[in-house]
Amino acid sequence: MSASAIDDAPTQRQLTLNILRYDPRNPASKPHMQKYRIEEADSMTLFIALTEIREHQDSTLQFDFVCRAGICGSCAMMVNGRPQLACRVLTRDLPDEITLAPLPFFELIADLSVFTGKWMRGMSERLQTWLHAQEREIDLCRIEERMDPDLAEQIYELDRCIECGCCIAACGTAQMRHDFVGAVGLARLARFRLDPRDTRTDDDYYDLIGDDTGVFGCMSLLACQDVCPKSLPLQTQIAFLRRKMAAQGL
Ligand code: SF4
Ligand code: F3S
Ligand code: FES
Repeated sequence: MSASAIDDAPTQRQLTLNILRYDPRNPASKPHMQKYRIEEADSMTLFIALTEIREHQDSTLQFDFVCRAGICGSCAMMVNGRPQLACRVLTRDLPDEITLAPLPFFELIADLSVFTGKWMRGMSERLQTWLHAQEREIDLCRIEERMDPDLAEQIYELDRCIECGCCIAACGTAQMRHDFVGAVGLARLARFRLDPRDTRTDDDYYDLIGDDTGVFGCMSLLACQDVCPKSLPLQTQIAFLRRKMAAQGL
């Protein structure tokens, strides 16, 4: 390779990651920002960057990853102030200086790790986000009921939620009131309301979400839809539910 070709080769960026460190279970721990410097690699994601730091610089750094493919929802964190799935964020799309913090609203485990699953389970139990089908005798020979493909598609679209918590972290209402079920809760319920196998009526749904902790708490701030990594039609579903519940409450 000629000297000029070497001169023209792109130099790798040095990245600075400012990470909020805090372990609430350790009485000696105080919240503080810690700086780490790493060399950027080709196609580096934040998952790779954090793993690099944990393996080579600081084994105490805590963060969550399972699938590394935007499927499990466990790696959501605040990336330069915006909730995102860290395994899907390429460092080349970020500036040299990156600030990472845990999602607000959820119980902090430590550093970038939060307990979204505990909150999601509580929300699911509170809203009863499972199919309330009519009790029937089990008949294994019964032919499966047909569903209109367009309706099945709408239900499937809402079922794509990975419970990452980004919509809650971005929502102003959720930051003000912790009993708000959030876009994720409302979208879960909208999914069952669409399902013709669910026997619940709008009266039943009104009992679950017909107040300020439910659909009337939403102030249409729209951040939920902006940050949802699965691009769920959250605003359309919330607006639809709000109209139905308002009619129910008259
Ligand atoms: Fe995440 Fe979107 Fe589900 Fe909210 S609705 S939890 S942002 S996938
Ligand atoms: Fe929050 Fe989304 Fe409503 S951001 S206020 S749930 S539109
Ligand atoms: Fe599963 Fe990021 S690690 S969504």
